[in-house]
Amino acid sequence: MTTKTTHPSVKMAKNSSETDRARPLLHQHAREIQAFGKINKLPIALDEHACGASVELLNQILADTMTLRDMYKKHHWQVAGETFYQLHLLFDKHYDAQVELVDALAERIMLLGGISIAMAADVAETTFIRRPPRGREEAPVQLSRLLEAHEIILKEARTAARQAAEAGDDGTNDLLVSEVIRTNELQVWFLSEHLVDVPMVHAE
Ligand SMILES: [Fe+2]
Repeated sequence: MTTKTTHPSVKMAKNSSETDRARPLLHQHAREIQAFGKINKLPIALDEHACGASVELLNQILADTMTLRDMYKKHHWQVAGETFYQLHLLFDKHYDAQVELVDALAERIMLLGGISIAMAADVAETTFIRRPPRGREEAPVQLSRLLEAHEIILKEARTAARQAAEAGDDGTNDLLVSEVIRTNELQVWFLSEHLVDVPMVHAE
């Protein structure tokens, strides 16, 4: 009868692979698990065509909403003048609401089986909102830019909401009407009132 002995180097290798389990496995690469533009249909009782159509509409609104979100932060930082404090706070409040819309839109795209646009370069290529300069602008110009961006989003959100309802995608219609359209309309009101030229102290 022979006795089984483990060579010391084998034993060491086994021990080291056990202790290596806590070591992060870095620099891993593999093929994508889903290509952009492909629908990975989930069982939500909506046909693939309806899901695909909503994903395309939502990605456009997502790219524009991400652009508007970032424009609010730019203006929050760069605003100047007599109304600095109130606009500084208002721009950040609107930014927070746009952040929530971005997440709701992106997650709706994913649950429809699509892929939400995510990175700045892809957003820049997709958005319909004009690129603002890197420099600072006067408050009325900042407000005008924001209002233009809101109107672009409102126009496309209303069209998309109707198309989603016609295709039977009530969830997308609800998100667009209840959250995207209502939030943008409210923010338009708050911004627009800053562009009404009424006297501050002496009535005319
Ligand atoms: Fe801030």
